[in-house]
Amino acid sequence: MIGFEDIQAAAGRLKGQVLDTPCVESRTLSEIAGCQVFLKFENLQFTASFKERGACNKLAQLTPAESSGGVIAMSAGNHAQGVAYHAHRLGLRAVIVMPRFTPGVKVGRTRGFGAEVVLFGDTLDEARAHALELAAREGLTFVHPYDDEAIVAGQGTVGLEMLAAVPDLDTLVVAVGGGGLVAGIATAAKALKPGIEVVGVQTLRFPNMYNAVKHTDLPQGMSTIAEGIAVGTPGRVPQALIEKYVDDIVLVDEGDIEQAIVLLLEIEKTLVEGAGAAGLAALVKYADRFKGRKVGLVLGGGNIDPMLLAAIIQRGMVRAGRLARLHVNARDVPGSLAQITKIVSEAGANIDEVHHQRAFTMLAAQNVEIELVVQTRGREHIQALLSALHAGGFQAEEQR
Ligand SMILES: Cc1ncc(COP(=O)(O)O)c(C=O)c1O
Repeated sequence: MIGFEDIQAAAGRLKGQVLDTPCVESRTLSEIAGCQVFLKFENLQFTASFKERGACNKLAQLTPAESSGGVIAMSAGNHAQGVAYHAHRLGLRAVIVMPRFTPGVKVGRTRGFGAEVVLFGDTLDEARAHALELAAREGLTFVHPYDDEAIVAGQGTVGLEMLAAVPDLDTLVVAVGGGGLVAGIATAAKALKPGIEVVGVQTLRFPNMYNAVKHTDLPQGMSTIAEGIAVGTPGRVPQALIEKYVDDIVLVDEGDIEQAIVLLLEIEKTLVEGAGAAGLAALVKYADRFKGRKVGLVLGGGNIDPMLLAAIIQRGMVRAGRLARLHVNARDVPGSLAQITKIVSEAGANIDEVHHQRAFTMLAAQNVEIELVVQTRGREHIQALLSALHAGGFQAEEQR
């Protein structure tokens, strides 16, 4: 089992190769969450996630024979980029196996960091089996994303840096996939400050480590927006450390994570992926549990698909009442729409979309159902707009 010295040694190997990212207070998020929130910006790493740390620590310790043989990893995400980048920097051959359905942008980015990408299989399990086979056939060293002591020690350097930057943190909140990150951070933090509380966060859709340490049997889902923590089987190396050092694991749902991504974007102007927002999602969801504490939150990564991000922002605007869909019933005669748009404009809302529904409606045939998507300033503004439409003689309601 790794100890504090291993994490300190990893920090020495990482020096100058991986950023010591800022760990700073967010006053606005602190007000929202009801506790003092410090953010560790691991999304600012060159490959946009903390995964570089474990990869760098592992690759720096290969034997000369392993180094000359090259390395192989299986990952469609942040681990792939971390291994590819540091292998390239060290002049090692790197092969990354990804499932065939991996989005082209991830394949391109990993190739851009200098790795040979092999697309194989329809699932992560098939890709992993192929990577192990290739490793044996071509004499490559397999670099596991979390079930490896060198990887865990590398990730633990996040904890060292957080407590060096803000020594009086009393709680750390960390996303958990295979468990390497939280295991490393907890090992470092408990050595430096035994009274600190370390809380892991998983998505309800992939509660593997939660089930393992709490002896529950929650079902596993198919997909999540936090794909960085969508891990089916917990790592054995991390699990032993988690059982020893992590105080609790909590679960968050998809909507909580979406909301946290939008909060970080709007308030901090920082872009995180789903797994990178899981910690803030937990702080907001379990506000009572963290009330008044001094919490260090790891923003683990910022690799998110732009189309997914666009959808998440729009849904966030709907939740906040800044985008609303209204159904307005009107007589199907010239001028009706003009009257409606005049009321909307006088109420200070901006029309995004207009649709007329004549066939698929229960209204009398002389009437038309007009669907408006409007940009508004919040829930109260939507209510004011509906009242103005009612006062103008229109039947109107919000469709959620
Ligand atoms: C952004 C992000 N956060 C958290 C994690 C979880 O890390 P671990 O698998 O070590 O628990 C990952 C894993 O890829 C990740 O990419």
